[in-house]
Amino acid sequence: MAPSRFSGIGESVTVLEIIQRSTDFLAKKGVDSPRLQIELLLAHALKIPRLNLYLDFERQLAETDIEVVRQMVKRRGHREPLQHITGSTSFCGLEIKVTPDVLVPRPETELLAERAWKFLNDRAPAGAEPPSALDFGTGSGCLAVAMAVHASAVRIWALDISEAALEVALQNAAFHHVSDRIQFVRGDGFDGLCVQPQFDLIVSNPPYVPSREIEALQPEVRDFDPRLALDGGADGLEFFRGFAAKAKNFLRPAGKLMLEFGDGQEAKLQKLLVENAWLVEAVGRDYSGRPRILVAQPGGS
Ligand SMILES: C[S@@+](CC[C@H](N)C(=O)[O-])C[C@H]1O[C@@H](n2cnc3c(N)ncnc32)[C@H](O)[C@@H]1O
Repeated sequence: MAPSRFSGIGESVTVLEIIQRSTDFLAKKGVDSPRLQIELLLAHALKIPRLNLYLDFERQLAETDIEVVRQMVKRRGHREPLQHITGSTSFCGLEIKVTPDVLVPRPETELLAERAWKFLNDRAPAGAEPPSALDFGTGSGCLAVAMAVHASAVRIWALDISEAALEVALQNAAFHHVSDRIQFVRGDGFDGLCVQPQFDLIVSNPPYVPSREIEALQPEVRDFDPRLALDGGADGLEFFRGFAAKAKNFLRPAGKLMLEFGDGQEAKLQKLLVENAWLVEAVGRDYSGRPRILVAQPGGS
């Protein structure tokens, strides 16, 4: 963005003017929902709720605020995700820190989190050992933290191959005061678990994008989400093969496996699980009605 679009010497700029000019700029850069994006950035810069902007359209912005917003809009114009610029996102109503080392948590994963904590809460037997869950590929820790916050008795293991991601997950757990119930483990898949604990639930949003499709993703995803968090191998199903073959060894009797999968992968994933003696119990849909979550338990033919 040319600096003159915001202010010249002695020129004052209002909230509404910045919104309008930046909306045009972001639209030209191909950013989705450009008006919403600038409103969120501006509200973040001014430290006010977004809707308060509407009460203050004629407010003249200070030079320092203009400069901060200009830099943010420039970054967004380069298709850097909003959440990388603001440094956090909301997941199940919780503020989750986000850095380039972790996948930006997605709204559909909230549906997985909700199913997971409901199962864990129902599972909690009074007076017995607390229920336990493994979050496989924890990334920012969004699933582990949401489960720990919403299922107060649960004990969680949060596994990731990326040390940098685990560092972010650790900070998110501390921020939400649940570090004492989450054990963070660095490891490569199930082989990374040096002992063989038994869980009531294994939950995962694994990498599931077919390798050759990564280049065609939106720049926000392709250029900014970690490749490790996206790449699901040649057909996108590599991690699901691992779950199908190994997850049962880590489940307690009547334990469950809950997985997020990619659009269009349902049939292949179901087949894979059934072939490996899993019983597919439910398939959940995302906000646009597409199948994206699968719940299974050991015991199919
Ligand atoms: C799609 S991201 C999910 C992050 C987070 N759970 C979420 O839902 O936003 C997948 C995560 O799996 C991790 N991962 C990739 N390969 C792995 C492996 N072999 N073992 C353990 N974790 C792995 C990545 O580092 C990444 O954090």
